[in-house]
Amino acid sequence: MTQAKVRSAAARALAMPRSAIREIMALAAGRPDVIHLEVGEPDSPVEPAIIDAACRSMREGWTRYAPNAGLPRLRELVAARYAARWAYPATADRVVITTGAIGALYTAVMSVVDPGDEVLIPDPGWPNYESICHLAGARAVRYCLDPRDGYLPAMEELRRLTGPRTKAILVNTPGNPTGAVFPAAVMQALAEHAAATGTYLISDEIYEDMVFSAPHVSAADFDIHDRLFVVAGVSKSYAMTGFRLGFLVCPVGLGPVAASLQEPVTSCASTPSQKAAEAALSGDQSAVARLCATFRRRAELFVSELGPGLVPVAPAGAFYTLVDIAPTGLGSLEFCKLLLSEDAVAAVPGITFGPSCDRTVRVAFSASDTQLVVAAARMRRRIEALSGGRPPVSGEKDVAR
Ligand SMILES: Cc1ncc(COP(=O)(O)O)c(C=O)c1O
Repeated sequence: MTQAKVRSAAARALAMPRSAIREIMALAAGRPDVIHLEVGEPDSPVEPAIIDAACRSMREGWTRYAPNAGLPRLRELVAARYAARWAYPATADRVVITTGAIGALYTAVMSVVDPGDEVLIPDPGWPNYESICHLAGARAVRYCLDPRDGYLPAMEELRRLTGPRTKAILVNTPGNPTGAVFPAAVMQALAEHAAATGTYLISDEIYEDMVFSAPHVSAADFDIHDRLFVVAGVSKSYAMTGFRLGFLVCPVGLGPVAASLQEPVTSCASTPSQKAAEAALSGDQSAVARLCATFRRRAELFVSELGPGLVPVAPAGAFYTLVDIAPTGLGSLEFCKLLLSEDAVAAVPGITFGPSCDRTVRVAFSASDTQLVVAAARMRRRIEALSGGRPPVSGEKDVAR
Protein backbone atom coordinates (compact mmCIF):
# COMPACT_ATOMS: atom_id res chain seq x y z
CA MET A 1 0.00 0.00 0.00
CA THR A 2 1.45 3.38 -0.96
CA GLN A 3 1.65 5.91 1.80
CA ALA A 4 -0.21 9.09 0.75
CA LYS A 5 1.94 12.18 1.18
CA VAL A 6 0.73 14.12 4.20
CA ARG A 7 0.44 17.81 3.42
CA SER A 8 0.68 20.33 6.18
CA ALA A 9 -2.12 22.71 7.09
CA ALA A 10 -2.29 26.12 5.43
CA ALA A 11 0.22 28.65 6.69
CA ARG A 12 -2.57 31.15 7.29
CA ALA A 13 -4.47 28.68 9.48
CA LEU A 14 -1.36 27.71 11.43
CA ALA A 15 -0.35 31.35 11.94
CA MET A 16 -3.74 32.39 13.30
CA PRO A 17 -3.26 33.89 16.77
CA ARG A 18 -4.72 31.61 19.47
CA SER A 19 -5.99 32.70 22.82
CA ALA A 20 -4.34 31.70 26.13
CA ILE A 21 -7.84 31.12 27.56
CA ARG A 22 -7.78 27.67 25.90
CA GLU A 23 -4.78 26.69 27.99
CA ILE A 24 -6.58 27.62 31.21
CA MET A 25 -9.79 25.87 30.12
CA ALA A 26 -7.84 22.69 29.32
CA LEU A 27 -6.16 22.76 32.74
CA ALA A 28 -9.50 23.42 34.50
CA ALA A 29 -11.31 20.63 32.61
CA GLY A 30 -12.09 17.61 34.76
CA ARG A 31 -11.52 19.43 38.08
CA PRO A 32 -14.92 19.55 39.81
CA ASP A 33 -13.75 21.88 42.60
CA VAL A 34 -12.87 24.82 40.34
CA ILE A 35 -14.70 28.18 40.56
CA HIS A 36 -15.10 29.24 36.96
CA LEU A 37 -14.54 32.95 36.42
CA GLU A 38 -13.15 32.47 32.93
CA VAL A 39 -16.45 31.89 31.14
CA GLY A 40 -17.72 34.80 29.02
CA GLU A 41 -21.42 33.99 29.07
CA PRO A 42 -24.37 34.59 31.39
CA ASP A 43 -25.00 31.68 33.76
CA SER A 44 -28.80 32.12 33.78
CA PRO A 45 -31.20 29.94 31.75
CA VAL A 46 -32.96 31.16 28.62
CA GLU A 47 -36.51 32.43 29.26
CA PRO A 48 -39.05 29.57 28.87
CA ALA A 49 -41.13 31.64 26.41
CA ILE A 50 -38.14 31.82 24.06
CA ILE A 51 -37.46 28.07 24.31
CA ASP A 52 -41.16 27.38 23.69
CA ALA A 53 -41.18 29.63 20.63
CA ALA A 54 -38.11 27.88 19.21
CA CYS A 55 -39.63 24.41 19.73
CA ARG A 56 -42.98 25.51 18.33
CA SER A 57 -41.31 26.99 15.24
CA MET A 58 -39.60 23.69 14.48
CA ARG A 59 -42.86 21.78 14.82
CA GLU A 60 -44.45 24.32 12.47
CA GLY A 61 -41.79 23.58 9.85
CA TRP A 62 -39.24 26.39 10.33
CA THR A 63 -36.48 23.85 9.71
CA ARG A 64 -35.18 24.88 6.30
CA TYR A 65 -32.70 27.39 4.92
CA ALA A 66 -33.50 31.04 5.49
CA PRO A 67 -32.51 33.83 3.06
CA ASN A 68 -28.82 34.85 3.27
CA ALA A 69 -29.74 38.10 5.03
CA GLY A 70 -32.05 36.36 7.51
CA LEU A 71 -35.80 36.00 8.00
CA PRO A 72 -37.62 39.20 6.92
CA ARG A 73 -39.60 39.44 10.19
CA LEU A 74 -36.48 39.20 12.33
CA ARG A 75 -34.73 41.86 10.22
CA GLU A 76 -37.77 44.11 10.73
CA LEU A 77 -37.71 43.44 14.48
CA VAL A 78 -34.02 44.36 14.65
CA ALA A 79 -34.68 47.58 12.72
CA ALA A 80 -37.60 48.37 15.05
CA ARG A 81 -35.46 47.66 18.14
CA TYR A 82 -32.95 50.26 17.02
CA ALA A 83 -35.51 52.74 15.71
CA ALA A 84 -36.59 52.97 19.34
CA ARG A 85 -33.02 53.31 20.68
CA TRP A 86 -30.92 55.24 18.17
CA ALA A 87 -30.99 58.87 17.10
CA TYR A 88 -30.83 57.72 13.46
CA PRO A 89 -33.01 54.81 12.37
CA ALA A 90 -31.78 51.91 10.24
CA THR A 91 -34.05 50.31 7.68
CA ALA A 92 -34.41 46.51 7.61
CA ASP A 93 -32.52 46.27 4.30
CA ARG A 94 -29.39 47.28 6.24
CA VAL A 95 -29.81 44.41 8.73
CA VAL A 96 -28.09 41.05 8.17
CA ILE A 97 -28.70 38.17 10.57
CA THR A 98 -25.50 36.25 11.29
CA THR A 99 -24.20 33.20 13.15
CA GLY A 100 -23.44 34.91 16.45
CA ALA A 101 -22.08 38.41 16.83
CA ILE A 102 -18.76 36.86 15.83
CA GLY A 103 -20.35 36.19 12.42
CA ALA A 104 -21.37 39.85 12.25
CA LEU A 105 -17.83 41.00 13.06
CA TYR A 106 -16.35 38.67 10.47
CA THR A 107 -18.88 39.84 7.89
CA ALA A 108 -18.20 43.52 8.63
CA VAL A 109 -14.46 43.09 8.18
CA MET A 110 -14.81 40.96 5.03
CA SER A 111 -17.26 43.47 3.54
CA VAL A 112 -14.84 46.40 3.47
CA VAL A 113 -11.29 45.24 4.25
CA ASP A 114 -8.88 44.10 1.54
CA PRO A 115 -5.65 42.17 2.09
CA GLY A 116 -2.93 44.59 3.16
CA ASP A 117 -5.38 47.07 4.70
CA GLU A 118 -5.04 48.05 8.33
CA VAL A 119 -7.71 47.76 11.00
CA LEU A 120 -7.31 49.54 14.34
CA ILE A 121 -8.27 47.26 17.22
CA PRO A 122 -8.26 47.88 20.99
CA ASP A 123 -5.55 46.76 23.42
CA PRO A 124 -6.92 45.27 25.58
CA GLY A 125 -9.63 43.87 23.35
CA TRP A 126 -11.49 40.67 22.55
CA PRO A 127 -8.87 38.33 20.97
CA ASN A 128 -11.07 37.32 18.05
CA TYR A 129 -10.64 40.80 16.52
CA GLU A 130 -7.02 40.00 15.77
CA SER A 131 -7.85 36.51 14.42
CA ILE A 132 -10.50 37.94 12.07
CA CYS A 133 -8.05 40.53 10.71
CA HIS A 134 -5.49 37.78 10.23
CA LEU A 135 -7.94 35.66 8.22
CA ALA A 136 -8.85 38.70 6.11
CA GLY A 137 -5.15 39.25 5.33
CA ALA A 138 -5.34 42.62 7.08
CA ARG A 139 -2.88 44.08 9.56
CA ALA A 140 -4.35 44.59 13.02
CA VAL A 141 -2.91 47.74 14.59
CA ARG A 142 -3.57 48.10 18.30
CA TYR A 143 -4.60 51.30 20.03
CA CYS A 144 -4.30 51.51 23.78
CA LEU A 145 -7.11 51.54 26.34
CA ASP A 146 -5.25 52.82 29.38
CA PRO A 147 -6.60 52.18 32.89
CA ARG A 148 -5.38 55.67 33.83
CA ASP A 149 -7.90 56.98 31.26
CA GLY A 150 -10.66 54.69 32.51
CA TYR A 151 -9.95 52.29 29.58
CA LEU A 152 -11.29 54.87 27.14
CA PRO A 153 -9.55 55.43 23.79
CA ALA A 154 -7.20 58.41 23.45
CA MET A 155 -8.22 60.30 20.32
CA GLU A 156 -4.71 61.68 19.94
CA GLU A 157 -3.33 58.15 19.55
CA LEU A 158 -6.11 57.12 17.16
CA ARG A 159 -5.34 60.16 14.99
CA ARG A 160 -1.68 59.22 14.95
CA LEU A 161 -2.38 55.58 14.03
CA THR A 162 -4.90 56.33 11.28
CA GLY A 163 -3.00 56.38 7.99
CA PRO A 164 -3.65 55.84 4.28
CA ARG A 165 -3.94 52.07 4.75
CA THR A 166 -6.42 52.29 7.63
CA LYS A 167 -9.72 50.88 6.41
CA ALA A 168 -11.62 50.44 9.64
CA ILE A 169 -11.56 51.21 13.33
CA LEU A 170 -13.03 48.60 15.63
CA VAL A 171 -14.48 49.73 18.96
CA ASN A 172 -16.27 47.84 21.69
CA THR A 173 -18.59 49.39 24.25
CA PRO A 174 -19.50 48.19 26.85
CA GLY A 175 -16.10 46.58 26.75
CA ASN A 176 -14.73 43.09 27.12
CA PRO A 177 -12.44 42.71 29.10
CA THR A 178 -12.40 46.20 30.61
CA GLY A 179 -16.05 46.71 31.64
CA ALA A 180 -15.69 50.32 30.40
CA VAL A 181 -18.66 52.13 28.86
CA PHE A 182 -17.75 54.85 26.36
CA PRO A 183 -19.57 58.13 27.12
CA ALA A 184 -21.32 60.19 24.42
CA ALA A 185 -18.37 62.56 23.99
CA VAL A 186 -16.04 59.64 23.17
CA MET A 187 -18.54 58.09 20.74
CA GLN A 188 -19.01 61.45 19.04
CA ALA A 189 -15.24 61.95 18.74
CA LEU A 190 -14.90 58.45 17.23
CA ALA A 191 -17.69 59.15 14.75
CA GLU A 192 -16.17 62.48 13.74
CA HIS A 193 -12.75 60.88 13.36
CA ALA A 194 -14.16 58.12 11.11
CA ALA A 195 -15.99 60.72 9.00
CA ALA A 196 -12.94 63.00 8.73
CA THR A 197 -10.56 60.19 7.73
CA GLY A 198 -12.91 58.18 5.51
CA THR A 199 -12.55 55.04 7.60
CA TYR A 200 -15.29 52.60 8.53
CA LEU A 201 -16.30 52.38 12.15
CA ILE A 202 -17.15 48.85 13.33
CA SER A 203 -18.89 49.23 16.67
CA ASP A 204 -19.19 46.01 18.66
CA GLU A 205 -22.15 46.63 20.96
CA ILE A 206 -22.93 43.04 21.94
CA TYR A 207 -23.09 44.11 25.63
CA GLU A 208 -25.43 47.05 24.87
CA ASP A 209 -27.97 46.00 27.53
CA MET A 210 -25.40 45.44 30.30
CA VAL A 211 -24.75 48.94 31.68
CA PHE A 212 -24.69 49.71 35.40
CA SER A 213 -25.05 53.49 35.76
CA ALA A 214 -24.45 55.63 32.67
CA PRO A 215 -26.53 54.68 29.61
CA HIS A 216 -25.08 52.82 26.64
CA VAL A 217 -24.36 55.25 23.79
CA SER A 218 -24.40 53.65 20.35
CA ALA A 219 -22.21 54.84 17.50
CA ALA A 220 -25.50 54.91 15.57
CA ASP A 221 -26.52 58.01 17.54
CA PHE A 222 -24.23 59.96 15.22
CA ASP A 223 -24.60 60.90 11.59
CA ILE A 224 -22.11 58.43 10.08
CA HIS A 225 -24.44 55.74 8.82
CA ASP A 226 -22.69 55.70 5.44
CA ARG A 227 -19.62 54.19 7.15
CA LEU A 228 -20.94 52.50 10.27
CA PHE A 229 -21.34 48.83 11.13
CA VAL A 230 -23.06 48.02 14.41
CA VAL A 231 -22.59 44.50 15.77
CA ALA A 232 -25.00 43.04 18.33
CA GLY A 233 -27.08 39.94 18.96
CA VAL A 234 -29.00 37.86 21.45
CA SER A 235 -26.07 36.00 23.08
CA LYS A 236 -25.55 38.24 26.09
CA SER A 237 -28.81 40.20 26.53
CA TYR A 238 -30.95 37.05 26.46
CA ALA A 239 -28.33 34.52 27.66
CA MET A 240 -28.67 32.76 24.28
CA THR A 241 -25.00 32.08 23.53
CA GLY A 242 -25.66 28.57 22.21
CA PHE A 243 -28.24 29.77 19.69
CA ARG A 244 -25.43 31.46 17.75
CA LEU A 245 -27.48 34.40 16.56
CA GLY A 246 -26.12 37.87 15.89
CA PHE A 247 -27.12 40.93 13.94
CA LEU A 248 -25.15 43.30 11.80
CA VAL A 249 -26.46 46.73 10.87
CA CYS A 250 -24.53 47.74 7.76
CA PRO A 251 -23.60 51.10 6.28
CA VAL A 252 -26.20 52.48 3.86
CA GLY A 253 -25.94 50.50 0.62
CA LEU A 254 -23.76 47.66 1.96
CA GLY A 255 -26.52 45.33 3.21
CA PRO A 256 -26.57 43.22 0.03
CA VAL A 257 -22.76 42.78 0.09
CA ALA A 258 -22.83 41.66 3.72
CA ALA A 259 -25.75 39.32 2.99
CA SER A 260 -23.93 37.75 0.04
CA LEU A 261 -20.96 36.97 2.29
CA GLN A 262 -23.12 34.59 4.34
CA GLU A 263 -23.48 32.21 1.39
CA PRO A 264 -20.01 30.60 1.32
CA VAL A 265 -19.59 30.47 5.10
CA THR A 266 -22.93 29.58 6.71
CA SER A 267 -25.55 30.26 3.96
CA CYS A 268 -27.70 31.72 6.72
CA ALA A 269 -28.01 31.72 10.48
CA SER A 270 -29.92 28.73 11.91
CA THR A 271 -33.63 29.12 11.13
CA PRO A 272 -34.94 27.86 14.52
CA SER A 273 -32.49 30.22 16.24
CA GLN A 274 -33.88 33.08 14.18
CA LYS A 275 -37.40 32.18 15.30
CA ALA A 276 -36.14 32.11 18.90
CA ALA A 277 -34.58 35.55 18.39
CA GLU A 278 -37.90 36.85 17.04
CA ALA A 279 -39.52 35.70 20.28
CA ALA A 280 -36.73 37.27 22.34
CA LEU A 281 -36.99 40.67 20.64
CA SER A 282 -40.79 40.81 20.54
CA GLY A 283 -41.48 39.35 24.01
CA ASP A 284 -41.32 40.57 27.61
CA GLN A 285 -37.99 42.37 28.19
CA SER A 286 -37.95 42.25 31.99
CA ALA A 287 -35.43 39.36 32.11
CA VAL A 288 -32.89 41.56 30.31
CA ALA A 289 -33.09 44.18 33.07
CA ARG A 290 -32.89 41.45 35.74
CA LEU A 291 -29.75 40.01 34.15
CA CYS A 292 -28.14 43.43 34.04
CA ALA A 293 -29.03 44.03 37.71
CA THR A 294 -27.49 40.68 38.63
CA PHE A 295 -24.21 41.55 36.94
CA ARG A 296 -24.18 44.98 38.51
CA ARG A 297 -24.65 43.47 41.97
CA ARG A 298 -21.96 40.87 41.38
CA ALA A 299 -19.53 43.46 40.01
CA GLU A 300 -19.93 45.58 43.15
CA LEU A 301 -19.68 42.53 45.39
CA PHE A 302 -16.55 41.19 43.73
CA VAL A 303 -14.75 44.54 43.70
CA SER A 304 -15.54 45.21 47.36
CA GLU A 305 -14.61 41.66 48.46
CA LEU A 306 -11.33 41.84 46.58
CA GLY A 307 -10.51 44.99 48.49
CA PRO A 308 -9.13 48.35 47.50
CA GLY A 309 -6.48 48.86 44.88
CA LEU A 310 -6.70 45.62 42.94
CA VAL A 311 -9.26 46.70 40.34
CA PRO A 312 -7.77 49.62 38.38
CA VAL A 313 -11.15 50.77 37.03
CA ALA A 314 -14.45 49.59 38.51
CA PRO A 315 -16.59 48.00 35.77
CA ALA A 316 -19.42 50.17 34.41
CA GLY A 317 -20.90 47.54 32.09
CA ALA A 318 -20.61 44.12 30.40
CA PHE A 319 -19.79 41.46 33.02
CA TYR A 320 -16.04 41.52 33.42
CA THR A 321 -13.31 43.25 35.30
CA LEU A 322 -9.55 43.30 35.09
CA VAL A 323 -7.66 42.59 38.30
CA ASP A 324 -4.21 44.12 38.78
CA ILE A 325 -1.55 41.48 39.50
CA ALA A 326 1.45 43.77 38.91
CA PRO A 327 2.57 43.60 42.58
CA THR A 328 3.16 39.85 42.20
CA GLY A 329 5.81 40.35 39.53
CA LEU A 330 4.36 37.40 37.58
CA GLY A 331 3.13 37.32 34.01
CA SER A 332 -0.61 36.78 33.66
CA LEU A 333 -0.45 33.20 32.31
CA GLU A 334 1.89 32.11 35.07
CA PHE A 335 -0.35 33.76 37.67
CA CYS A 336 -3.52 32.16 36.27
CA LYS A 337 -1.91 28.70 36.26
CA LEU A 338 -0.94 29.16 39.89
CA LEU A 339 -4.37 30.50 40.85
CA LEU A 340 -5.92 27.45 39.25
CA SER A 341 -3.60 24.81 40.67
CA GLU A 342 -3.32 26.26 44.20
CA ASP A 343 -6.64 28.06 44.71
CA ALA A 344 -9.00 26.27 42.28
CA VAL A 345 -10.04 29.56 40.65
CA ALA A 346 -10.03 29.81 36.84
CA ALA A 347 -9.51 33.30 35.38
CA VAL A 348 -8.27 34.51 32.01
CA PRO A 349 -4.68 35.75 31.60
CA GLY A 350 -4.69 39.42 30.57
CA ILE A 351 -2.12 38.73 27.84
CA THR A 352 -4.99 37.10 25.91
CA PHE A 353 -6.41 40.57 25.32
CA GLY A 354 -3.26 42.32 24.17
CA PRO A 355 0.35 43.03 25.02
CA SER A 356 -0.53 45.91 27.38
CA CYS A 357 -2.44 43.59 29.64
CA ASP A 358 0.05 41.02 30.93
CA ARG A 359 -0.10 42.43 34.47
CA THR A 360 -3.83 41.82 34.81
CA VAL A 361 -6.25 38.90 34.78
CA ARG A 362 -9.88 38.96 33.63
CA VAL A 363 -12.68 37.83 35.86
CA ALA A 364 -16.21 37.18 34.52
CA PHE A 365 -19.17 37.52 36.86
CA SER A 366 -20.81 34.37 35.52
CA ALA A 367 -20.60 32.58 38.88
CA SER A 368 -22.86 32.78 41.92
CA ASP A 369 -22.49 35.54 44.52
CA THR A 370 -21.14 32.98 47.01
CA GLN A 371 -18.56 31.67 44.56
CA LEU A 372 -17.48 35.20 43.69
CA VAL A 373 -16.94 36.04 47.37
CA VAL A 374 -14.82 32.91 47.88
CA ALA A 375 -12.88 33.50 44.66
CA ALA A 376 -12.19 37.15 45.55
CA ALA A 377 -10.76 36.12 48.94
CA ARG A 378 -8.56 33.46 47.36
CA MET A 379 -7.31 35.86 44.68
CA ARG A 380 -6.51 38.55 47.20
CA ARG A 381 -4.60 36.11 49.41
CA ARG A 382 -2.65 34.77 46.44
CA ILE A 383 -1.73 38.26 45.21
CA GLU A 384 -0.65 39.31 48.71
CA ALA A 385 1.38 36.15 49.23
CA LEU A 386 3.20 36.64 45.93
CA SER A 387 3.75 40.33 46.61
CA GLY A 388 5.62 39.54 49.83
CA GLY A 389 2.96 41.27 51.92
CA ARG A 390 3.45 44.55 50.08
CA PRO A 391 0.21 46.49 49.73
CA PRO A 392 -1.13 46.32 46.20
CA VAL A 393 -0.37 49.32 44.03
CA SER A 394 -3.21 50.51 41.87
CA GLY A 395 -2.92 52.40 38.58
CA GLU A 396 -6.20 54.09 39.39
CA LYS A 397 -6.74 57.63 38.25
CA ASP A 398 -9.82 59.69 38.90
CA VAL A 399 -11.67 59.84 35.61
CA ALA A 400 -15.18 60.84 34.72
CA ARG A 401 -16.81 57.76 33.19
C1 LIG B 1 -16.69 41.74 22.73
C2 LIG B 1 -17.40 40.58 22.14
N1 LIG B 1 -17.86 40.68 20.88
C3 LIG B 1 -18.50 39.67 20.29
C4 LIG B 1 -18.70 38.47 20.96
C5 LIG B 1 -19.35 37.34 20.22
O1 LIG B 1 -20.64 37.07 20.61
P1 LIG B 1 -21.42 35.82 20.02
O2 LIG B 1 -21.36 34.76 21.06
O3 LIG B 1 -22.80 36.31 19.76
O4 LIG B 1 -20.74 35.40 18.78
C6 LIG B 1 -18.22 38.31 22.26
C7 LIG B 1 -18.38 37.03 22.96
O5 LIG B 1 -17.86 36.79 24.02
C8 LIG B 1 -17.56 39.39 22.87
O6 LIG B 1 -17.08 39.32 24.11
